[in-house]
Amino acid sequence: MENVLKEGLLAIEACQNLGDLQNVRNEYLSKKGLVTQLMGKMKDLPAEDKPAYGAQVNQIKQSLEAAFKLKEEALQEAAFDVQLQKGKIDLSLPSAMPLVGTLHPLTIVQTEIEQFFMGMGYLVKEGPEVELDYYNFERANIPQDHPARDMQDTFYINAEWLLRTHTTAIQTRTLEAYKGEIPVKVICPGKVFRKDDDDATHSHQFVQIEGLVVGDKISLADLKGTLELLARHLFGEARVIRFRPSYFQFTEPSVEVDVSCHICNGKGCPTCKQSGWIEILGAGMVHPNVLRMAGFDPEKVSGFAFGLGVERVALLKYGIDDIRHLYTNDLRFLNNFRRFE
Ligand code: DAH
Repeated sequence: MENVLKEGLLAIEACQNLGDLQNVRNEYLSKKGLVTQLMGKMKDLPAEDKPAYGAQVNQIKQSLEAAFKLKEEALQEAAFDVQLQKGKIDLSLPSAMPLVGTLHPLTIVQTEIEQFFMGMGYLVKEGPEVELDYYNFERANIPQDHPARDMQDTFYINAEWLLRTHTTAIQTRTLEAYKGEIPVKVICPGKVFRKDDDDATHSHQFVQIEGLVVGDKISLADLKGTLELLARHLFGEARVIRFRPSYFQFTEPSVEVDVSCHICNGKGCPTCKQSGWIEILGAGMVHPNVLRMAGFDPEKVSGFAFGLGVERVALLKYGIDDIRHLYTNDLRFLNNFRRFE
């Protein structure tokens, strides 16, 4: 009996983990275990010895059970410590900062221009990038045989469909949608596409914002005042702008508006091709044919329109020397615009 207790206690002490302990427990305390076997021997004893024997076996059983319990707690604690050690968290490590993006410079400029015009009561209209030849050219008073339709300039999909070459396509759609109703006072932002060679100032895809106002006695003076306000809003008082007479099929008369180059301040540099000026928009009075085709009477109403390159404005505003920076999505470049949002 004493051996069972002594060896049992040693076996319990030697256990390295809870699995070992369970095995030892089975060996001693299960139905066929050593303690149970000791108890079984009681039936062979004389009656008067039985109580003392039984009490002794019970004593052993209780001692072993107590030892099991202590050992079990110790092993559980050790296992928990291992677990803690494994999942240890270094509270002194700096936390992972969430990566916050920024608006793209083109989005910033487009939004700024939209807000400027919305503040003056303009509505924002959009149109499809895959456009009908009809709205892109025909309704802009550019007939079949006009050189502006040259395959060199336009991405044609088929004889009827193309990638719009200018937001003037949205202008002609908008005019049609108004069904001769005035006033029309909209700006039309959107991507446009040209079969152009990419360089520091040209891209085969870029963003334009078209402006269009049609109403009662709208004049060139209204156009000039509007564009002057826009130029001041975008570039401040320091920049100089100039108007040059120009030609567009869909306006008469037509003007081109240049802004003095921000890189060289007008002295001449590669960005402005040594001219000191960068063209940012074309404009004019909506051509009577354009109004007539859309159901307006050019004898009764008149309008002005302009088309502005958003990239050009972004280059000027932020002093960017190459338009291609706006498309290559280099984060070292883009992250600079956080402060302009
Ligand atoms: N559509 C012209 C272009 O892409 C820009 C333009 C010029 C738009 C004069 C106009 C305008 O509305 O009146 O080059």
